[in-house]
Amino acid sequence: MGCLECEVVSHAARLPPACFMSALASSPPAAIDPAAPDQGITVRPLDAPFGAEVIGLDLARPLNAGEFASIHRAHLDHHVLVFRDQRITPAQQVAFSRRFGPLQIHVQKKFQLAGHPEVLIVSNIKENGEPIGLGDAGHFWHSDLSYKDKPSLGSLLHAQELPAEGGDTLFADQHAAYEALPEALKTTIAPLRAEHSYLAKYEELRARSPWRPRLTQAQLDEVKPVVHPVVRTHPETGRKALFVSEHFTTRIVDLPEDESAAVLAELFALAVKHELQYRHAWQPHDMVFWDNRSVQHLAAGTPDHLRRKLYRTTIEGDVPY
Ligand code: SIN
Repeated sequence: MGCLECEVVSHAARLPPACFMSALASSPPAAIDPAAPDQGITVRPLDAPFGAEVIGLDLARPLNAGEFASIHRAHLDHHVLVFRDQRITPAQQVAFSRRFGPLQIHVQKKFQLAGHPEVLIVSNIKENGEPIGLGDAGHFWHSDLSYKDKPSLGSLLHAQELPAEGGDTLFADQHAAYEALPEALKTTIAPLRAEHSYLAKYEELRARSPWRPRLTQAQLDEVKPVVHPVVRTHPETGRKALFVSEHFTTRIVDLPEDESAAVLAELFALAVKHELQYRHAWQPHDMVFWDNRSVQHLAAGTPDHLRRKLYRTTIEGDVPY
């Protein structure tokens, strides 16, 4: 397999197969170097229901296999990882993200970072009257790219420019949400499947943000609706999680329309209860890496007159089951 560090890590933490396809040589920054000196990282849980800060790690330096295994394990255990003060380039963000699997290219090609198609600009900034990024990407609760056959394993957001107020990102634990459901509801939803569509809220978002482009036929072909289980099993930990969201889930395909709407409304509310949430208040150069198989997220909003810009990479995951 020719990928020593992946072999080492795979024993420790069951890396997804995509890792084995990553070419070490293609990404010198943030690559794994078996001989790299240990940076001495610590994983410290946040003062929140979940999430952890990874302390002592500089993502601009190569990681050794043990450090990568620790980060991978922490990601599975804590669902949201915060890396403070990361002075890294987009290429380094891409290289680190790729350690976890192939990267997904967002359908909104207009908001790719020049020279880095894997990086989506999330920003409310306009230059010459034109938006430079997808400013309302997180307007509704969602799990990234759940409208794809293979939704995102995880996403990384790296802060480039932050507002003096607002701009927080909220996360909600979908394992805990599932576990807290009444037993009767768990039984009802166990066999159900739901449709996810990128178009579910598209016209509503366009009405609020007219700069959102109309999708071309080629883009529409990229985002055909898909069907996933309402409760998914995390492929690496085996834990069950709710997998429906206000942004992308349109209907439960196994129920009549009125029952589907009622069950989804109930699940949407139960999935994001306050006690299930971690609210991330961004600090300069933060990198946040979350597990889309375990959490949903929401952008809490930024006042229009303040500038906010982050770079997002998304890692392809498995077909949910
Ligand atoms: C997103 O949904 O990926 C963006 C979240 C944010 O802007 O805080």
